[in-house]
Amino acid sequence: MKIIVINGPNLNMLGTRDPALYGGENLAEIEDRIRNRAGELGVDVEIFQSNHEGALVDCLQGPARDAAGVVINAGALTHYGLSLRDALADAHLPAVEVHLSNIHAREEFRRRSVFGEVVVGQIAGLGWRGYLYALEYLVAHLREQEEGA
Ligand code: DQA
Repeated sequence: MKIIVINGPNLNMLGTRDPALYGGENLAEIEDRIRNRAGELGVDVEIFQSNHEGALVDCLQGPARDAAGVVINAGALTHYGLSLRDALADAHLPAVEVHLSNIHAREEFRRRSVFGEVVVGQIAGLGWRGYLYALEYLVAHLREQEEGA
């Protein structure tokens, strides 16, 4: 079972980017923690980051095609990235949306996610751990489905 983790614009700057909001860990450290947890859970994980919406769409149309589920933090594209939203819908994969910060406690424009209708659920405000919780949920959910099939 492969889970794909997608990070959008500016998340490559984690660690130096407003640590009070996003935490002090850089993206490589968070990716290591995701890989470790995936190993413990016995699943493969592929992690992708881009600052470009089209590259994220390409990822969903390519490497994600043989994935069982998606963890996505689309960064600011969360609030307006309709081509990425459509690509996620077209992928027909269970997806969990993650935000390091609590987007509901910030500026008004951050409260709306264009992904809301196409994801199973959202985790916001739990920092880097949100990625691990999303991964754990997807693996449990997919294994339940496998057992029920
Ligand atoms: C974010 C929240 C977005 O509003 C913001 O543009 C980001 C990061 C988060 O993880 O909290 O880039 O997705």
